[in-house]
Amino acid sequence: MKVQIINGPNLNLLGSREPDIYGQTAFDTFFNDLQNQYPTVELSYYQSNTEGELIDKMQEVGFTYDGIILNAGAYTHTSIALLDCIRSLTTPVVEVHISNVHAREEFRHKSMISSACRGVIMGFGLNSYRLALEGIVG
Ligand code: DQA
Repeated sequence: MKVQIINGPNLNLLGSREPDIYGQTAFDTFFNDLQNQYPTVELSYYQSNTEGELIDKMQEVGFTYDGIILNAGAYTHTSIALLDCIRSLTTPVVEVHISNVHAREEFRHKSMISSACRGVIMGFGLNSYRLALEGIVG
């Protein structure tokens, strides 16, 4: 199985960015552990701060991979372009958030992309990505 993890804006700063909300672990460290836990799944990781690059990556893998795990960061709450992209793909996309966005500011309560996603996992820290992977491989 091939699964692509995609992180959006500011998620390159995981480990140092607002650690009380997002934790102290850099994503690379978490990603290596996750790959070791799922040796039969071919995991790839991509991060961009740019909306169009996220779309390019999703279009690249979104017709051949078995799943995409997407944390679109703040674009979650604004991007019709990401919504349209997810709708266009054949690969199922799981929306992920590290924090429980419903327990935060009201502007984070709306997701533009959820309706096009296979499922949504949030609030379990980096473990949200592992739970999303379980949803794809399970
Ligand atoms: C986030 C939640 C978003 O509201 C925020 O803009 C992020 C991270 C999360 O993983 O909890 O950048 O997607």
